[in-house]
Amino acid sequence: MAVRPAPASPVNPPSRTGAIRFLSARETHPIRLEVLRPGFPPESAVFDGDSDPSTLHLGAFLEGQLVGVASLFQAPFPGDPPEPAFQLRGMATHPKYRGRGCGRLLVEACCSAALNRSIQTLWCNARESALGFYSKLGWEIIGDRFEIPTVGPHFQMLRRL
Ligand SMILES: CC(C)(COP(=O)(O)OP(=O)(O)OC[C@H]1O[C@@H](n2cnc3c(N)ncnc32)[C@H](O)[C@@H]1OP(=O)(O)O)[C@@H](O)C(=O)NCCC(=O)NCCS
Repeated sequence: MAVRPAPASPVNPPSRTGAIRFLSARETHPIRLEVLRPGFPPESAVFDGDSDPSTLHLGAFLEGQLVGVASLFQAPFPGDPPEPAFQLRGMATHPKYRGRGCGRLLVEACCSAALNRSIQTLWCNARESALGFYSKLGWEIIGDRFEIPTVGPHFQMLRRL
């Protein structure tokens, strides 16, 4: 007897195809505030260096809506000797849109943007809860766990391009 193909699902699976665009600093603030600084005043979503011309802000869009953000700040990797690098900060996907590949797309776009500017090192202070995410994308832990007050435990992580 011929095996029949399974019937198509009546519900389309959510799209994993996001688009990445550069943003202004101001456009990143609502998602930063909601995801990374919940309960804090709006100014806590503004980071030092946000408006620096060398700082890059990227956004992930699904169905035309901004659902994730990430920013790159020029900051040498604090090694010996320090090397030119970008620090990834403000990495956040809106909770409703997680698991759909936007975080990965954002990090990949950050890698491309760094390489386009001849920067071959990215680093970040990763929340302990996000270690698995960064590890999956090829980042390595550098050094010991440390605490950022009001946010929690972190590890410094590095990605060489
Ligand atoms: C971490 C975060 C940015 C991931 O965003 P996302 O859009 O859900 O990520 P993606 O869907 O692109 O996930 C990429 C991969 O990482 C995995 N992943 C995502 N978050 C993870 C986590 N916290 N731990 C382990 N793995 C994780 C996904 O399952 C996916 O794996 P797959 O490709 O095998 O399916 C998002 O969960 C978030 O905003 N968290 C709260 C804020 C935060 O911790 N930001 C980082 C601060 S340092």
